[in-house]
Order: sequence, then C-alpha cells, then structure tokens
Amino acid sequence: MATCGRLRLFDQCLRNSPFAIIQRFSSRTTFKASDLRLNLTRHPGPKPEDPNKCIFGKHFTDHMLAVEWNLKTGWGVPVIKPLENISLHPATSVFHYATEQLFEGMKAYRTVDNRIAMFRPMENMNRMNRTAKRACLPEFDNEELVKCLAELVRVEHEWVPHSTTASLYMRPTMIGTEPSLGVNMSSSALLYCILCPVGPYFDTGSFSPVSLMADPTYIRAAKGGSGAYKLGSNYGPTIRIQQEAIKRGCQQVLWLYGEDHQVTEVGTMNVFVYWINEDGEKELATMPLGEGIVLPGVTRSSLIELAHEWDEFKVTERIITMADVSKALNENRMLEMFGAGTACVVCPIDKILYMDQTLEIPTMENGPEIASRFYKELTDIQYGRIPHEWSYTVMEDAGKGDVSEARNNF
Ligand SMILES: Cc1ncc(COP(=O)(O)O)c(C=O)c1O
Repeated sequence: MATCGRLRLFDQCLRNSPFAIIQRFSSRTTFKASDLRLNLTRHPGPKPEDPNKCIFGKHFTDHMLAVEWNLKTGWGVPVIKPLENISLHPATSVFHYATEQLFEGMKAYRTVDNRIAMFRPMENMNRMNRTAKRACLPEFDNEELVKCLAELVRVEHEWVPHSTTASLYMRPTMIGTEPSLGVNMSSSALLYCILCPVGPYFDTGSFSPVSLMADPTYIRAAKGGSGAYKLGSNYGPTIRIQQEAIKRGCQQVLWLYGEDHQVTEVGTMNVFVYWINEDGEKELATMPLGEGIVLPGVTRSSLIELAHEWDEFKVTERIITMADVSKALNENRMLEMFGAGTACVVCPIDKILYMDQTLEIPTMENGPEIASRFYKELTDIQYGRIPHEWSYTVMEDAGKGDVSEARNNF
C-alpha cells in the first residue's frame, strides 16, 4: 500500500512538474482542418430507403472522424476513415470513470434550396470545449473542429436525408484513453464523430404532447455538480428513473431540484413555461443557467433570442417551482409548457404526475400557439426556408458530385 501511495504521489508530481507543464504548452494545442486526411471506403453501404423511418441512433453512415491526443505531443492529425470499432485496454479510464467521456448532439439538414447546412455548430463547439475543461480532457480550436465536421458531412452528403422532416444527427465524442486505473487526468484521449440519419421526432407528422413524472425523490444534477456539462456520467444514472416514469404511465421525467421543487429540465430537454404571470403579463420563462444545474441548450438559447427579437411578451430566465406551476393552473394563467432540444426542437407537455396528482397542462388547448411558432421558425431556418446566420452551409449544391473516389489521400 505504502509503495502504491508513493508511486501515485510520484506520478502526480511528474504530471504537475514544471517540465510536464512546459511540455504540455509546447505540444500541439489544437488539430488543424488543413491537415485532415481522408481514407474513404470503396464499399459504401446502402442508404436507408425511407429516412423518415430511421430510429434514432441505430443506423450509422460509412465514415467517422477521429483525432488522437496525448500529453506529450498534443493533438495529432484528424482523419476521416471508414467507421470502425475502437480497440482499448480494459483498464482504459473511460471504462472506469465515465467523467472522461463527453459528447455533443447536433444536426445537419438538406435544405429546400439543395444546400447541406449545420445549425449553429459553433454553439456546440463552445459547449464541447467547456465540457472538455470540466472533464480534464484536452481543449481544441472550435473553428477547426467545425471545419473537420463540415468535411465529414460533405463526404457523407448522400446520407443527409432528402426530407424536410428527417436529418443527419452528429455525435462528436471525446474519451480518456489512458490504460490506467488511477482516478486521475487521462494522459491520452480520442475525439471522434459518428453520424446517423434520423427520422422525425413526432412520427405522426404533428406535435404529440408528452406526460411527465415529477418526483422530487430524484434529481438529475445538483449545485456544484456537473449538470451544466454534456458528460456521459450525467446521463447513465437517469435511465432507471426514465424506466420508473414509464412504469407510472408517464413518457418522460420532469427533473425537480431543491426543497422548493424547482422545475429544471424535461428528460434531455430544457423546459419552458408560457403563462400569464402574477403581475398579469404574458411571459416566457425558463430556468436560469447561473445555478449550474441545467444544460445550456443550443435550442434553449435560440428560443430565448427569437422571443427577444419578437418582443411581444416578457422573456425571463428565472426559477420556477412546482408551487408556481400549480398556482398558475389553479388561477387559469398557464398557457403552455414545453421541452426544447435538438432532437425535437420543441415538445409540448400535457400532463405532470406530481405528488400523486395529475396536473393537466392546457398546452394543446392553447394551440400550442408559442410552441408551434418556435417550431416553425427554427425548422424554417434549419431547412433553409428562410435565410439566417444560424444556418452554416457545408455544401452549396448537394445534389451533384461523388467525393468517394476522388478524395482518398492515404
Ligand atoms: C440534459 C439536456 N438538457 C437540454 C438539452 C438540449 O440541448 P440542445 O438544445 O443543445 O440540444 C439536452 C440535449 O442535448 C440535454 O441532454
């Protein structure tokens, strides 16, 4: 034990020594899209016949992006290569301490004017870098990863569904790869991105509202914790609670927090209420980010920015409690409640099972006026029906050209 302790101390001293710190700073602090190497398959797989029937996360495209990092030399050369298994030592840190696993969720769309575009990719990159810092994984230059991702999407452009209800889901991921059981910073990492065509969230073609279980026994995140970051370790423990919600006849979990049962998130979405507040004003409200217990969603900030632009009702980032929700319902002030995230854009809420009572939320009875308007506005931007700076063009004329033969440079 004593030897082990001394070894651990020695290891920590080495990692924190001036030499190691100088070495870290002299290593490559980012990878560069201009170094990107392409190793493309000569046997591309069949594309889904009906992308609208693609179940989330089950179908993968032919290629992946991968970049390795290590403490000594920093970032390596980014590569786009055929999708393949990853072989790692069983002691690898990601298998033991899931905090060394982080991810992003974003989408590429085929627009009505035949472009392929990503939606606000820099926002995802900013969040990915914030999460990397929190997980002691290496940071990188946001723009360089956006350019690499754009190239991956260009290579896979035929996989981007020809549909204005389906899209190509992008899953940038980073894992600690050091084969060591020490609860320590990993001295090596792998960043990769895989892609899946995905069908519509609402397969009926129109909004289907969800029912929620709100049980204060469970929390998703706590102050001082890591809920504001997209770490794999925030998600695994929620699966059992989601199962519990289904057992109780609900579709998703409404995550509460604190003695006052603050309304924080819905499943893996941010949550909004649209109501007439106690001062008689129409207001859109959502949990503030300062508490550090909700994920700063790209959709969340887009809705807030749009609502500010419309300037038709009050927009507030403030704590909302279940008592506020119940009171608004009792006083007929509640208009709509909905979740917001990349998967669905907005998802109306119609019931909340709370303290053995089912609260009926009149979202659908009220249109839903605001949820539908947000949905239309964001999907109009995503599918290019209206030009907007949030649409990041990856390919101008996505109907032509075959990249698979010409671009191999291995
Ligand atoms: C916990 C959580 N909250 C909110 C969101 C919505 O974030 P975004 O709008 O960036 O998809 C997600 C989805 O990634 C999430 O996992």
